[in-house]
Amino acid sequence: MAVLLEVFKSEIDVASPEALSLVNDIAKTFEDQVEVKVYDLLKDPKEALRYDIKKVPTIIIDGTIRFTGLPTKQELIQAIEAKIERVKTGVSRLDDLIEGGIPKGASILVVGDLGVGKSIFCQQIIYARLKQGDPCIYIALDEPPLQIRKNMERFGWNVSSFEAENQFRFIDAFSWRTGAPPKSTVEYFIENPRDHLQWAKAFEHVWGEVGGGKATKGVYVIDSINEMLAQMETKPAVDFIKTRKARFSASNILGLHVFHKGVYDDIMPHLAFFEDGIIELLLVEERKKLNRYLRICKMLRTDHTTGIVQFVINKKQGIILRHATPLKK
Ligand SMILES: Nc1ncnc2c1ncn2[C@@H]1O[C@H](COP(=O)(O)OP(=O)(O)OP(=O)(O)O)[C@@H](O)[C@H]1O
Ligand SMILES: [Mg+2]
Repeated sequence: MAVLLEVFKSEIDVASPEALSLVNDIAKTFEDQVEVKVYDLLKDPKEALRYDIKKVPTIIIDGTIRFTGLPTKQELIQAIEAKIERVKTGVSRLDDLIEGGIPKGASILVVGDLGVGKSIFCQQIIYARLKQGDPCIYIALDEPPLQIRKNMERFGWNVSSFEAENQFRFIDAFSWRTGAPPKSTVEYFIENPRDHLQWAKAFEHVWGEVGGGKATKGVYVIDSINEMLAQMETKPAVDFIKTRKARFSASNILGLHVFHKGVYDDIMPHLAFFEDGIIELLLVEERKKLNRYLRICKMLRTDHTTGIVQFVINKKQGIILRHATPLKK
């Protein structure tokens, strides 16, 4: 959702034209991330009453009066950046643990035990971001897109309308095993995952489709890195991930990289080192039952807890974090 800048001006105020041109100027640089609404103190008394505006120019950012009088360009940019710097995940309570969301442009390692909920975690974020208008890509290596679509539908996360509107695409890097592309699909099909040039080509093509090639927001998921390592040599696989990170951190695109613990563990430190954040999902046996926990091991520009937080997978809402609880041994 765009940040809303509301400007109150008056025809008889000398600073109002300057405030307006400053806001319009800055809105242009933030493109669709900022929406501007202009009100006149005398002609729109109802609007002025909402915030009890007495002085112009006044600038309101997302419902909070931020500037009475003329701000400097720097002050206004900083106030906007503070608002758009983070991506809300849509995972209940997680955003509260990380200052409101994952920093934009971050690449996050989603690491965890087999069957703990790593894919559901990513699918939940993808759906939340699609609803907010972000272009998204899901590179499916562990399961075919058909399976993932069905799984998401069970939670009420239907992606087909987003696929129809070119806002979402799967890159199918699973079905090559059958030797032929699946019938009647909209996804991009990787024929030979061993050919590392195909990966870059697929990614650029699909990103062009969903984001018009110059999107300044969005999410991509690689599920999973382990399977990518199994198909490619280690070096091209790690290079592919690093290149995406370099390219997309500059454009504020969030990357989610799924990694199963227990397989290719020797590669894990290389990945952990260059990722901006690490979210670990754990299965812990307690009183003869496996419980699920989440831990934020690393998150750039974020003051976060490193304690573990229990979560459940709810058949209607997906992942729901509980309140922080100590681990019982
Ligand atoms: N519709 C559902 N409702 C509730 N729980 C579900 C539902 N679908 C899956 N689960 C739970 O989620 C688990 C699988 O989640 P997910 O596929 O995200 O795990 P993963 O960590 O990606 O697993 P893998 O290591 O196999 O890739 C299942 O084992 C099951 O316990
Ligand atoms: Mg999975």
